[in-house]
Amino acid sequence: MPNLTPTAQVSIELVDRHYDILIGSGLLDEAAHIACGPASAEALIVTNTTVAPLYAERVQQVLATHHARVRTIALPDGEAHKDWDTLNLIFDKLLGDGFDRKTVLYALGGGVIGDMTGFAAACYMRGVSYVQLPTTLLAQVDSSVGGKTAINHPAGKNMIGAFYQPLKVIADLATLDTLPDREISAGLAEVIKYGPIADDDFLGWIEHNIDALRARDKAALAHAVQRSCEIKAWVVGQDERESGLRAILNFGHTFGHAIEAGLGYGAWLHGEAVGCGMVMAADLSARCGLIDTAYAARIAAVIERAGLPVRGPRLGAARYLELMRIDKKSESGQIRFVLLDAPGKASLHRADDALVAEVIDAHTA
Ligand code: NAD
Ligand code: GLY
Repeated sequence: MPNLTPTAQVSIELVDRHYDILIGSGLLDEAAHIACGPASAEALIVTNTTVAPLYAERVQQVLATHHARVRTIALPDGEAHKDWDTLNLIFDKLLGDGFDRKTVLYALGGGVIGDMTGFAAACYMRGVSYVQLPTTLLAQVDSSVGGKTAINHPAGKNMIGAFYQPLKVIADLATLDTLPDREISAGLAEVIKYGPIADDDFLGWIEHNIDALRARDKAALAHAVQRSCEIKAWVVGQDERESGLRAILNFGHTFGHAIEAGLGYGAWLHGEAVGCGMVMAADLSARCGLIDTAYAARIAAVIERAGLPVRGPRLGAARYLELMRIDKKSESGQIRFVLLDAPGKASLHRADDALVAEVIDAHTA
């Protein structure tokens, strides 16, 4: 019998509202945890062709005890489908089935489904409610929290989107049982990220527990999800729309997004690209004299132990630089990197192209 009580609850406190993240095993089986909005509202579960056979029917049955009507749409799976055509399938379904503006969308899946469902919710009839039901480690520790929604453009990752907060986030740890090992490693990249940028003790805890995390030890995963969400809540609570502090959550992402766009979306997993990007960003921090090389090496070592690649693809430094200029943090064509100022502390910096090129050459296969 699953334990249906959340093991942890983290609150996101925003200027004009707050919402909760529930963390525990078996939560998707309980309408009291997942159902949101009035009973008279209709619900659309947005999922994909991989997650639907695993969880959609169960969630549909649970939501049917609350909502007047519940339907499901299963989108094609993968980062390569995080685009306009796939987003339009959600609007086609909503309009074709006559969903009104009281509708609640439920994002059941990983970060791709969460980001697209949130964006669809922001746009449909100028905004309907949505709930995040993240089923990957990456989505539970990062993408489902904080209201960033988007699709990709061939020229740049997550370039079209909106800030739009969910009603609630329910992270059911039991869904991680069906996740492939490669996806666990990808999620660990975003867990590791929180240590160097905000909590050096957490980095120490991850180093101690990395094998348990890869082995899916439930207690270790529960702590990793909770601490990650607490740190993200602390950051987003101070800077919801990324006018400053929130940028630190993009540590490693400038290099990582270049890898994803440069190779074609889906060739590397987002978490893999971010992991390798953090190795490069840590090295750049050291080369800028902000941290010592031993700390950069420590970060690279834990990323490697997480089962992530630490050498990037050989696109050439010029191509990396070209791709990195198309980044939401760039200003007037100047790339800005999240660099480490000290263990557990990060901020935005500019860096010489020549130094960045040295880093790329040193870390590409
Ligand atoms: P994903 O959504 O592609 O999911 C990874 C794979 O796992 C997919 O094939 C999916 O179908 C499958 N899957 C999902 N849950 C499963 C389960 N329980 N069992 C078996 N298979 C399962 O990738 P992701 O790593 O979850 O998310 C990456 C995306 O998140 C990227 O597009 C990235 O840009 C975005 N992201 C957004 C934010 C944000 O703040 N909005 C933050 C970080 C990442
Ligand atoms: N994952 C980056 C952010 O939420 O800001």
